[in-house]
Amino acid sequence: MNELLKAVDLGKDYLIPDGEILRVFSGLSFSLERGEIVAVMGASGSGKTTLLNLLGALDRPTGGRVFLEGEDLSSLDAVSLARVRNAKIGFVFQAFHLLPEFTALENVALPLLMGGAAKSEAMDRGRAMLRETGLESKSGCRPAQLSGGEMQRVAIARALVNRPAVLLADEPTGNLDWKTGESILRLLLDLHRKRGLASVLVTHNERVSALCEKTYFLERGLLERRP
Ligand SMILES: Nc1ncnc2c1ncn2[C@@H]1O[C@H](COP(=O)(O)OP(=O)(O)OP(=O)(O)O)[C@@H](O)[C@H]1O
Ligand SMILES: [Mg+2]
Repeated sequence: MNELLKAVDLGKDYLIPDGEILRVFSGLSFSLERGEIVAVMGASGSGKTTLLNLLGALDRPTGGRVFLEGEDLSSLDAVSLARVRNAKIGFVFQAFHLLPEFTALENVALPLLMGGAAKSEAMDRGRAMLRETGLESKSGCRPAQLSGGEMQRVAIARALVNRPAVLLADEPTGNLDWKTGESILRLLLDLHRKRGLASVLVTHNERVSALCEKTYFLERGLLERRP
């Protein structure tokens, strides 16, 4: 069985002001195999980011479980969860989420340093990773000195520098013009294939979903495969 990431009976409720509870979904199932790339679409507010955050252990579900390489993430304490996240999951966000006071290279090297790598090794590997995303020449720039597309290349390098098994991207082309978005999409697909990742791309973009192997649609708490 090649199943890498699996969600079983997954549910998420948020506590909202006035003590009310917002149920985004419950009883949701999802599984992703090694090498597979899928798109998740759905209207704004349908819960796509919520789902991605649960799959990537950035948030804990209210119900159900997430398994990564067979390990039940709900059984882990916060420290172990952070370690699993750092080593096995690469995140890419719509708004890039780079640290503004660090250079591109420092941003990319950070997950390695957090994982305990020596500084010189982290910098070498960071530089090699930036080369793979086509941005080595800008490794000394801070995010404010980069274009949106370049920032996303840094963010992708940071997400993959630890050689994670899973890539989770939340609208990775959402803040980019069509042409830049297309080049970022090509880069993600290329790295996905080269590294044998299991990837989930949340998107509003039909072009992105057309290039994925499967598309799921999240609507009214249900996740359904789109034919
Ligand atoms: N931390 C939170 N606390 C309370 N409610 C939240 C929280 N995060 C999200 N929500 C609510 O949960 C629902 C799903 O939000 P989510 O961000 O997952 O949607 P989305 O599908 O990613 O939307 P978009 O396409 O606009 O990014 C929304 O109604 C939102 O208001
Ligand atoms: Mg979202």
